[in-house]
Amino acid sequence: MKLAIADPPYPPIFSERFDAAGGASRVVTRSRATRWYGDGTRGRHDPAPADFHPEAGRWDDLTEHRRLLERLCDEFDGWAIATTPDGLGAYHPLPVSARVLSWVRPNGMPGGGRLISRWEPVIVFIPAARRARTSGMIVPDTLIEAAPRIGFAGAKPVQWTRWVLDVLGYDPGSDSVTDLFPGSGNVASAIDGMLPA
Ligand SMILES: C[S@@+](CC[C@H](N)C(=O)[O-])C[C@H]1O[C@@H](n2cnc3c(N)ncnc32)[C@H](O)[C@@H]1O
Repeated sequence: MKLAIADPPYPPIFSERFDAAGGASRVVTRSRATRWYGDGTRGRHDPAPADFHPEAGRWDDLTEHRRLLERLCDEFDGWAIATTPDGLGAYHPLPVSARVLSWVRPNGMPGGGRLISRWEPVIVFIPAARRARTSGMIVPDTLIEAAPRIGFAGAKPVQWTRWVLDVLGYDPGSDSVTDLFPGSGNVASAIDGMLPA
């Protein structure tokens, strides 16, 4: 079967500000894509971008995420999309059989607000023949695993890739896996590590 893992730049952050005339609120948008993978503005204490892609800013447009979902449905038997809790809406409505997994990162760092983000969703579409309990191993829909601190924003731990592929029922002997956004190479090397020796 043809499987894919898509870990694109995450959708932008929408937040409410109360600085408009008369105390009215307005919605402001901040790009994650250009901050981490383009030439966008980073905070004073942020390190250099993890990676550069000249078209990173395309991922600030929610229709780009929708197009990714449609491409995955058209071209692959099973797939996974990594995103943020506030980015899930960019992919809705999901195919009826899609599921949302939860990757819990106990080492998530505080951001600008009081709430520390310690989990990330992974949207998965398991091939139809691999959904029944009798069709393969039982896999939890949650993974607790620290995010790697390798200086690459968005890099996934090896265990993340193994978990996602176990959920998709990956058969190293007959499946192909396409890593659509290689980044640090962590996903690809985890896939290689699952191949028979
Ligand atoms: C979240 S990171 C992928 C992280 C990767 N899974 C890992 O474990 O290291 C997203 C990647 O998409 C790349 N990217 C940004 N804009 C892109 C575009 N328009 N087309 C393709 N890739 C893009 C970024 O440069 C970055 O390497």
